[in-house]
Amino acid sequence: MRESASDIIYQLKNVARVRESNGYAFSLRVPSLRIQRGEKIALIGESGCGKSTLLDMLAFILRPTELEDFSFHARGGRVDIGEAWSKRRRNRLAALRKAHLGYVMQTGGLLPFLNVHDNINLSRRMLGMEDDGTVRTLARELGLTRHLHKLPSALSTGERQRVAIGRALAHRPAIVIADEPTASVDPFAAEKIMSLFIGMVEEMNITVIVASHAWRHIKQLGLRRLAHHTRKSPDGRMTETVVSG
Ligand SMILES: Nc1ncnc2c1ncn2[C@@H]1O[C@H](COP(=O)(O)OP(=O)(O)OP(=O)(O)O)[C@@H](O)[C@H]1O
Ligand SMILES: [Mg+2]
Repeated sequence: MRESASDIIYQLKNVARVRESNGYAFSLRVPSLRIQRGEKIALIGESGCGKSTLLDMLAFILRPTELEDFSFHARGGRVDIGEAWSKRRRNRLAALRKAHLGYVMQTGGLLPFLNVHDNINLSRRMLGMEDDGTVRTLARELGLTRHLHKLPSALSTGERQRVAIGRALAHRPAIVIADEPTASVDPFAAEKIMSLFIGMVEEMNITVIVASHAWRHIKQLGLRRLAHHTRKSPDGRMTETVVSG
């Protein structure tokens, strides 16, 4: 892909998040990261290496503790995310998230009191988008048509994960961030859901960033894997992961 400034969606330079609790410290450092529009990115690593920490920063949910540059290129131009955090513009960050991102959460995050249709439609409803058949089309592609009127509690884990994927795509965001979207299903189902998901984002021309602890299921799907390196202090009290790509 030919690279021009307008193709870049995320540009991070020396961004870090340090987390501390009970005498243990974890830090995630990103010396440099550039993600282009339409890319499919994978962050693969063991539990605790910082995948959710990075994704939450990319979704403007978690504030970096250090940063030199954190730019996000939305349709309307460059947005300085670092400045939005330092000026405590939480509403601005929330609005950007709502308009441009879809997030498939590690824990599913479906609303238990809404049926499948309304869970998938949630992101559209929050943006005031009309019903144009997108929810039904997505439900069909995800094999959820006959479950549209069920509550999440009446679904299997894999079905819930497919609903969460539908919800992240329904408002046609520019970017979808997926945190272990297939963590709680068996490897066979995980492979199927992951290839369905990647096929859909490709067709919709959405940039995707997916975290997983297992590379095996997604190796064949043509994702660019971010490099990362984790090291621990000898007493185990400090862990640092450095990610770049
Ligand atoms: N709210 C928090 N406060 C303090 N430390 C935290 C907090 N959340 C996570 N951590 C620590 O940060 C580190 C990275 O956590 P993170 O959730 O990013 O890992 P992960 O790679 O997503 O793991 P998993 O594969 O288990 O989801 C862990 O050591 C974790 O204990
Ligand atoms: Mg995680």
